[in-house]
Amino acid sequence: MRTKPLLVALALSLGMSVSAQKETQVKLNLEQAKQIIPKEIYGQFAEHLGTCIYGGLWVGENSSIPNTSGYRNDVLQALKELKIPVLRWPGGCFADEYHWMDGIGPKENRPRMVNNNWGGTVEDNSFGTHEFLNLCELLECEPYVSMNVGSGTVQETAQWVEYMTAADGPMAKLRKQNGRENPWRVKYIGVGNESWGCGGNMRPEYYADLYRRYQTYCRSYNGNRLFKIASGSGEYDLHWTETMMKQAGNHMNGLSLHYYTVAGWSGSKGSATKFSDEDYYWTMGKCLDIENCLKEHIKIMDKYDPRKRVALMVDEWGTWWDEEPGTIRGHLYQQNTMRDAFVAALSLNVFHKYTDRIKMANIAQIANVLQSMILTKEDKMVLTPTYYVFKMYNVHQNATYVPLDITCEQRQVRARMGRDGEQRTLPIVSVTASKAKDGTLYVSLSNVDLKEKNEVTIDLGNIQAKSVSGEILTCKNIADMNTFEQPDVVKTETFKGAKLSKGKLVVKLPAMSIVTLAVK
Ligand code: AHR
Repeated sequence: MRTKPLLVALALSLGMSVSAQKETQVKLNLEQAKQIIPKEIYGQFAEHLGTCIYGGLWVGENSSIPNTSGYRNDVLQALKELKIPVLRWPGGCFADEYHWMDGIGPKENRPRMVNNNWGGTVEDNSFGTHEFLNLCELLECEPYVSMNVGSGTVQETAQWVEYMTAADGPMAKLRKQNGRENPWRVKYIGVGNESWGCGGNMRPEYYADLYRRYQTYCRSYNGNRLFKIASGSGEYDLHWTETMMKQAGNHMNGLSLHYYTVAGWSGSKGSATKFSDEDYYWTMGKCLDIENCLKEHIKIMDKYDPRKRVALMVDEWGTWWDEEPGTIRGHLYQQNTMRDAFVAALSLNVFHKYTDRIKMANIAQIANVLQSMILTKEDKMVLTPTYYVFKMYNVHQNATYVPLDITCEQRQVRARMGRDGEQRTLPIVSVTASKAKDGTLYVSLSNVDLKEKNEVTIDLGNIQAKSVSGEILTCKNIADMNTFEQPDVVKTETFKGAKLSKGKLVVKLPAMSIVTLAVK
């Protein structure tokens, strides 16, 4: 009886796989499918940081780069295809130094400002409230506006909400003078960002009171019901969550959480494009550790809010690598490889599991910053591997999550991670499934193995499936990426490796592949 654990321990100490199973079994628990995957899980984040806004989304009406009222046409088109549900703006750290009145009115009168958080870049404020909210209308997505608690006043915050959403009154009058007659619809507001750090270096005991005060004056005008989100913890700061839930839980609709797949906050975070196999597997482990982190925060939220009234909003997540050599320091411009694509897929798979509590997630960030969808350089644009994951996965938006059981190879990863720095095992295959309103079953699968293919057998239960079709994102090398010179190295293709047989779906996953299947 003791031989097996000893052999496993020996294998682990030698850094070997716990099992060399190249076959995976999945059982869909359709009878338990009841939770909707809110489309907002597929949210995006656009901060005034580097070239995310200026150059990435916005070039201005007078630019030689083709644009619609100042927004880049190529980027607009690509983003429309993603079906973005919600866009967070203007930060991030930037939000707690942003004074919104500087970004309204005739552009030539808008003051210039120094972006102190991000490289000291001087901005002309040509992208402000109107430009953001009109962009959301073009993209048909919900705006999520982060208010300045760190260095702004309560009055400034209250007036911003009034300016955006009131039909009448002094702020509405000002908005009308600036060319917008009807109020916009703004559902989500963030009351501060990382208030434990760049947003004011506060203790939760103090911020909880400040949050209560600021949110009081954010009014819901003319049927525009605000969804108020408090600044939450970074990774494993459980005391923050505990204090916020205890002292301010009754005053919020959502509490945020930030989790980055990052090697460490000081010193090198590692290159986005040059990494070893070991680095790669470490990244997969760190990314999946988000599940443990979420569970710990959810446990606390459940204690104070068993009816799950307060949502957990993972409003910043993604990879964070060293800036690309030759780019401006503080602009957080990084390339994006298939490794990043896996972080996107695996994280989304985790979010799907906890949608009874998690109601929004916003990957950081939409263009030219951290794990972006899009990279631009003057008039050129490339779509990143992460973009393709979001596009393949958008079929899960507002579909019903299908819980599942999976048995697959578990690999030991070398890095220590988690709150207590414990070792983790890494499942080599990750699967998520949902059922759309029209009855289509969507299954997304990732095989993170760098070398081995994997055959996945999915028990479909009582689904009478007639056809299966799919798309695949894969690569020759895990560091493959799209560049301005070679923009189509990594992109989705039709997948023919799935077959239906006797109530089962058999999927032959190549090494390093992400697949989404539609089963009808
Ligand atoms: O996304 C970049 C930065 O990361 C954000 O401004 C901040 O909130 C976080 O620390």
